[in-house]
This record gives sequence, structure tokens and C-alpha cells, in this order.
Amino acid sequence: QGKNPDSVVSDTIALVNVGRDYEFYKDTSLTDVSKGNLMLVNKYNLLSKDYNPDDIKEVSTTYAYSGNKLKEEAYEAFKKLANDAKKDGNTIVILSSYRTYEYQESLWNKRNDDNYVARPGASEHETGLAIDVADYYDKNDSFKDTESYIWMLNNAHKYGFILRYPEGKENITGYMYEEWHFRYFG
Ligand code: DAL
Ligand code: ZN
Repeated sequence: QGKNPDSVVSDTIALVNVGRDYEFYKDTSLTDVSKGNLMLVNKYNLLSKDYNPDDIKEVSTTYAYSGNKLKEEAYEAFKKLANDAKKDGNTIVILSSYRTYEYQESLWNKRNDDNYVARPGASEHETGLAIDVADYYDKNDSFKDTESYIWMLNNAHKYGFILRYPEGKENITGYMYEEWHFRYFG
């Protein structure tokens, strides 16, 4: 509060509650994977290199670009979400989903910028519960300028998904606004 005299006390408390009084990636802990769908993976709580989520399923190309995989429960929820979005005229597809530790490491090595890419072990994509989505028929606009994005904001939570890195919360999440990244919690 002393360092940020303009912020309200409740904001400062929120920051301390998520650990932001410590630097990102300092004194990290191992994620408690026994929490299942609620497991916390971020710049303080990391998955081990050998974490292998069970129930990983290949996502049909009806719902994703080829090669995507998700945990079965998240996949089933996404199918319902995408089918209902389609009824409302929005075609939402998965661009990226489950990533191995090694794959996240290769992404990080390509672009080692902490504001955009999680370090290996710190990406929600390694849980098999996170998705990056796009509007299939509106590839020219950024996702936030599509009807599908508005649909996701209004409906994703009904299927167990939340927007994980919202605008205005960069100091808490440690990432730039990612309007395409959603996480399944159930
Ligand atoms: N871009 C997201 C934060 C990730 O790398 O998991
Ligand atoms: Zn993502």
C-alpha cells in the first residue's frame, strides 16, 4: 500500500493474496495436482517436468485444428459449448490446447518474453484444461472484435470455462490480455 498510495486497500490485499508481493518465478512451489480441475498453474505454482495428465483425448477436427488434445471432461464441455455457440451462429474452434512440458519449453525458447509466454512448467496448457480459441469464419479480425468473443464472454462460464488473462488484470496474471485463452475449471 505504501508503494502504491493511489490504490485502494482492497486492491493491495488482493495482490498480496495472490502472492504479488513476491517476484514472479522466485520461490516457486509445485502445483497441488490433487486439486484436479481446480489446480493452480501460474508463475508461482509450477507443474513438474514429468507431469502427465490422464484422460487426454484427441480433439475432433469438427472442433479444432488437427493435433489438438484435451482432458476428456474439458473436451466434453467444449463440445457442448461449441455446439450451442454454433446454434447462435458462432463457429468457435480450438487453435491450441494440451501442450507437453517439452513443447512449452520449445515455445519459450522461441519467444522468451514473460509477458506473453509461460515458462515450461508454468503453462496452463500443460494441464490439458486450457484452450486458445478463434472464430473460424472471422480470421482477419482479432478475436476480441468477433461475435464469437462476445458469445464466449456471456456464455463460457456456463460450460465451466473462464477467460484467464483479462484486460486490466495484467499485474495479477503476469500476462498481457489474452482474449483467446480460456481455462476449464468445471
Ligand atoms: N500464453 C500463455 C500464457 C501460455 O504460454 O501458457
Ligand atoms: Zn493459451
